[in-house]
Amino acid sequence: MIECVEAEIRDRCRTVSVAERCNQPDAPAGAARDDSARARLVRRVNQLYHDLTQDVFDVEHRYRHRVERSFWHDVSRMLGDNDGVVAGRTVVDLACGTGFVTQILAEAMHPQDRLIAIDISPAALDSAARKCRPHRLQQAVADGARLPLADESVDLFAINAALHHMPDPIGVLQEVDRVLKPAGLFALGFEPNLHHFRSPMARVAHGVDRLAWYANPRQNVRRFRAYLGLGGQDASCESDRAVCRMISECLQSEGLIDEPLNPAAILDMVDAHARGAAEHAGFDAVALIEALFPKYELIRLVSSDYLGEAPRRFRPVRSALDAVLRMMLPAHGSLFSMVVRKCVRGEEQAP
Ligand SMILES: C[S@@+](CC[C@H](N)C(=O)[O-])C[C@H]1O[C@@H](n2cnc3c(N)ncnc32)[C@H](O)[C@@H]1O
Repeated sequence: MIECVEAEIRDRCRTVSVAERCNQPDAPAGAARDDSARARLVRRVNQLYHDLTQDVFDVEHRYRHRVERSFWHDVSRMLGDNDGVVAGRTVVDLACGTGFVTQILAEAMHPQDRLIAIDISPAALDSAARKCRPHRLQQAVADGARLPLADESVDLFAINAALHHMPDPIGVLQEVDRVLKPAGLFALGFEPNLHHFRSPMARVAHGVDRLAWYANPRQNVRRFRAYLGLGGQDASCESDRAVCRMISECLQSEGLIDEPLNPAAILDMVDAHARGAAEHAGFDAVALIEALFPKYELIRLVSSDYLGEAPRRFRPVRSALDAVLRMMLPAHGSLFSMVVRKCVRGEEQAP
């Protein structure tokens, strides 16, 4: 799965630091953010993990992207509906990854608009830039809680499937509020809500995964070889383990941890608000909106679900199951997406 040479990866671990490459569009305004040891660790783990796995990111997330595409097309159409503003808008895709949302937004934009992709992983940003050619893309390697953007400078701010990777999501949302212009749009896509880990869909997805694993003859041969001590392994698990091992070594060499971390602990940090400790898992969408965006107009709040990724040969089965379950559980998705619009000053006092 991961086709990088180990030595090359180790080199990358050593050379990339959070603020290393930063062709920042504007000077950072310097927001207060969580700089505790854990927060720094979570950021560095995310940076390393996404740097090391971006080569396979699009393949691994192909199905998720297919499900999420229509929401982002709707958002890009809202950009087109922005009456009176023809060009020169600033659009930001935070935690852009390999550019799934960036590309959709780019296609809806005027050549004079400014599109800025931000991510903590330089390797992911490189992929996003390749995907968005020939659009002119500005890039910044930065943390979501310290955006290199001026106050009230952004017309549309997008985050997709990424807030739960960040150690201080509230700090990130405060930054979004700081940089959005009055009347600017904020679109947050496909974050886990509080039901995420208890939802029937999540359980069914897990069951389908297990079934697919046990039904796969090649996996069974590997399992049998491993049982006989002949060295058979699950290739994808093995490569995830290798990545986690490298991350752990890198963190130790940087003095961020004393003892090696096991793969589960590393993966819990990658998905900082989605796995592991229950108190960190998922967001309360309505509470978020009420607490952080009281002066915003709610344009859209949708809940959705899908069964996650599947090996290629099981995808048709999973797509069919997805459709059936969506019909059966229309309003109980464990992911939420929303679009809010910042009120123009004075508008919030209007009756
Ligand atoms: C699941 S990927 C989503 C990527 C993309 N938005 C998509 O939908 O395909 C999460 C992304 O968040 C980025 N990320 C994680 N922590 C971050 C942070 N603190 N600041 C900025 N980006 C971060 C990762 O590097 C990764 O590219």
